[in-house]
Amino acid sequence: MKEYKIAVIPGDGTGPEVVAEGIKVLSAAAKKYNVKFEFVYFDFGGERYLRTGETLPDSAIEELKKFDAIYLGAIGHPDVKPGILELGILLKLRFTFDQYINLRPVKLFRAEDCPIKDKKPQDIDFVVIRENTGSVYTGIGGVMQKGTKYEVATQLMVYSYHQVERCIRFAYEYTRKRNKKKLLTLVHKTNVLTYCGDLWMRVFQEVGKEYPDIKQDYNHVDACCMWFVKNPEYYDVVVTENMFGDIITDLAAIIQGGLGIAAGANINPNGISMFEPMGGSAPKYTGKNMINPLAAIYAAAMMVEFLGEEKMANAIITAIQQALLSGKIKSLSAGKMGLTTTEVGDLVASLV
Ligand code: IPM
Ligand code: MN
Repeated sequence: MKEYKIAVIPGDGTGPEVVAEGIKVLSAAAKKYNVKFEFVYFDFGGERYLRTGETLPDSAIEELKKFDAIYLGAIGHPDVKPGILELGILLKLRFTFDQYINLRPVKLFRAEDCPIKDKKPQDIDFVVIRENTGSVYTGIGGVMQKGTKYEVATQLMVYSYHQVERCIRFAYEYTRKRNKKKLLTLVHKTNVLTYCGDLWMRVFQEVGKEYPDIKQDYNHVDACCMWFVKNPEYYDVVVTENMFGDIITDLAAIIQGGLGIAAGANINPNGISMFEPMGGSAPKYTGKNMINPLAAIYAAAMMVEFLGEEKMANAIITAIQQALLSGKIKSLSAGKMGLTTTEVGDLVASLV
């Protein structure tokens, strides 16, 4: 029997509620697929920070290295200044473990969850591959004469050839393996970002020569936002830099039904990867058993797929789909589901 050690960081707000449902579904699936999970919980997040002043100590990084994957709920606390937990926990994990791919599937399960009229599940089924270690997220920049009228602030978009190349290569490989339209679209802003955009475009074309079976396309990021809404059926795999990827995946999330269903994988193909629902800590819904756990369950499916348990991953995704098609879940939005968080988890677990 295969055994996997999973580090669980439920985090803040509704994070623990959704993670509990993901673990419920994983445990139900484990029995059927002859797999064993060992879950070890870590309490990093806003509460611990407020208590101890600690975000993610270096000793925790050492501890986390012993695991096969990390399963994360949400990071963000209303009493903590924006940036501290995001940088100190979430981005620190992504950077330290060099999780250079942020993979975000955009899949509509039910037509009624899509805010665009006349779009069906077959129209919205693509994947965004967001670079996850570079760009403005590196924090390179600075400020001078802060608080005066002469204040100057910079925050630089930084990319190395190496970072771009490994991300683009991953995207081509992924598009080939996905084996659908075999269309990879680079999203950038080459008409303005003449250094960074040029680097991405050259690497995209250069690496593309090794993948003659993959069609290449390019969108400016602003146009991509328009096309995601107008013609989502055009897309297969999208690859983009970190900041643009952050923005377009929120837009992409809403066309698949919102953050209640949107999941992401922070991948280091040769290291420790981390799986999370895209939604935040949702303080408004915390402790109310109202938040949608499907994104966290979806993230759990991505985790087992990454671990090599493809059958189990497919079974979980099919169970999510069946749960939605059963009509028992009225909406994907928190508080409007017609079921509680735990009931949605129970339903999926019963179908897996
Ligand atoms: C996301 C989030 C994070 C990001 C924040 C919380 C730092 O928006 O995962 O998309 O910008 O990457
Ligand atoms: Mn985001």
